[in-house]
Amino acid sequence: MATFLCRWEFSERGHYSLRKAADVLGIGRDNLVPVGVDADGRMRIDLLRDTMRDLQQRNIRPMAIVGIAGTTETGAVDPLDAIADVAQEAGCHFHVDAAWGGATLLSERERWRFAGIERADSVVIDAHKQFYVPMGAGMVLFRNPAWTQEIIQHANYIVRKGSVDLGRHTLEGSPGAAAVMLYANLHLLGRKGLAQLIDRSIDNAHYFASLIAQQPDFELDSHPQLCILTYRHVPETVRAALATASADRREKILDALDALTISIQEMQRDAGRSFVSRTQLMSTQWGGRPIAVFRVVLANPDTTHAILQDILDEHRALAAASPCMAPLMALVGAPDAA
Ligand SMILES: Cc1ncc(COP(=O)(O)O)c(C=O)c1O
Repeated sequence: MATFLCRWEFSERGHYSLRKAADVLGIGRDNLVPVGVDADGRMRIDLLRDTMRDLQQRNIRPMAIVGIAGTTETGAVDPLDAIADVAQEAGCHFHVDAAWGGATLLSERERWRFAGIERADSVVIDAHKQFYVPMGAGMVLFRNPAWTQEIIQHANYIVRKGSVDLGRHTLEGSPGAAAVMLYANLHLLGRKGLAQLIDRSIDNAHYFASLIAQQPDFELDSHPQLCILTYRHVPETVRAALATASADRREKILDALDALTISIQEMQRDAGRSFVSRTQLMSTQWGGRPIAVFRVVLANPDTTHAILQDILDEHRALAAASPCMAPLMALVGAPDAA
């Protein structure tokens, strides 16, 4: 029996649904090969090419390369055109995960960010994200719609030959009518209305990033490419201590800072006035170690500049009240030999 090994290339920031897909398809998670990203969270083409060479030397033919158009955690957009070149040279399928960012294509101002997506063999876009419809309305678009014929099913009582029922080739035989919500929204808001929402959310993200950058006690950890950004509160004394600390002490301070970030986020969630999510990122700024950060998705068009200022003020107030502040300050105040 022939052994067929297949690899998917995807960036280190790939969504966990890629692992789910590998499970469901029986490909095996070991056959998902992550490709390193640059400081902005975009797939590095030099590393992709290294990976392709390595696989070729081991006689492994990649099945697909996955580019991400808007990563979940920081909204980074992979260099899709360059990935398309690599996929074309290797003769493998080029898939784009635009689940989160796909609606950006509606914006004439922002669409350039996705240059190369038109070369994809398949693209996933979730309408329940930036098309502003309730969950769950996912779409997969194929360059060649006839590919769905490969898995088409018929029955005698339903989906007979000639049927146009989607259930012929979706996993659920009786899929919900999620398309109605998208259809309605496209008519209510239209392409222009949705594009305005996208543009406004990206403007807001840029505004918030510049506001954070002006604060002496906040650190911007990812610059917005779409409307997501990550940052954290770093009290000025902590910032000063980090700049001069020995490697060992720096690690202890960074651990305590992570605890403070997590505690602020939980306190803010529990207080219920406002909400930011949080995640963990590999930080190039801090020597490639994971750090806890706030993650903000500015998709609500009603978010004003005053609200964004309030969020930072609330972070500060919660930090002062957090039980994690005293241990952090004790570390900062301790002599470096500690
Ligand atoms: C980039 C990306 N891909 C895939 C998904 C999976 O989305 P869902 O399971 O909601 O369809 C998400 C969800 O956040 C995402 O951000």
